[in-house]
Amino acid sequence: MMEELQFIYKRYSVRKFQEKPVKAEDLEAILTAAVHAPSGKNLQNWHFVVVSRREMIEQMAGAVQEKNKQLAEFIAEDERKAFTAMIPYHTVFKGAPVVILVYAGPYPSVADSLLKSGRLPQQEALEYAKPGPGIQNIAAAMENLVLAAAALGYGTCWMTGPTYAAEEISKLVGFSKEGYHLAAMTPLGVPAASPLQRTKRKPLAEVVTFVE
Ligand SMILES: Cc1cc2nc3c(=O)[nH]c(=O)nc-3n(C[C@H](O)[C@H](O)[C@H](O)COP(=O)(O)O)c2cc1C
Repeated sequence: MMEELQFIYKRYSVRKFQEKPVKAEDLEAILTAAVHAPSGKNLQNWHFVVVSRREMIEQMAGAVQEKNKQLAEFIAEDERKAFTAMIPYHTVFKGAPVVILVYAGPYPSVADSLLKSGRLPQQEALEYAKPGPGIQNIAAAMENLVLAAAALGYGTCWMTGPTYAAEEISKLVGFSKEGYHLAAMTPLGVPAASPLQRTKRKPLAEVVTFVE
């Protein structure tokens, strides 16, 4: 592996953490790295909520568990068991000293204008919405965040699983901002000592096409 790219390969999804706190200067450096991500029109349509109160983190995990139970009722029987079985993966943040909630704000795209004017068939206008630049901005910030954390020796786990409890989580932490919704979250802490479980990647030949 190329030396210059080592920081990429340091990151992996961490789901168990030590009690150790996150240093304030490290937290600031990680958040600063996040907001240096590129964003369409430099709109920076993100907002980060940093939760470090243990009881609140546990309450958030409880809210996810409860919401999972409620939603399970609305899921077809053949998929319900699998949905309920995801609870541990949707609450992996509960043992972390810090949880960062990542909110996505409005991003006016060309597709929005086309949909609003109603002059194109909706089907076609929706095609232009597919790249989703607004949410790509959030993903760019999130990737910066997780890579910066790994470079400083911290573990993270990019999570969207728990976002079905967005309303409950936002209420618990007392955050609301017009037009913003919870897009992702991550625990942040020193990883518990465990053998590194490197996940497999598809071979480049399967996911890359060179056009010469
Ligand atoms: C958009 C997104 C959502 C994810 N949601 C969850 C989640 O809710 N719970 C979880 O345990 N892992 C979640 N993950 C982590 C993936 O499972 C993980 O990135 C993948 O298995 C590759 O492993 P690695 O991160 O260790 O390289 C998510 C990752 C991404 C990018």
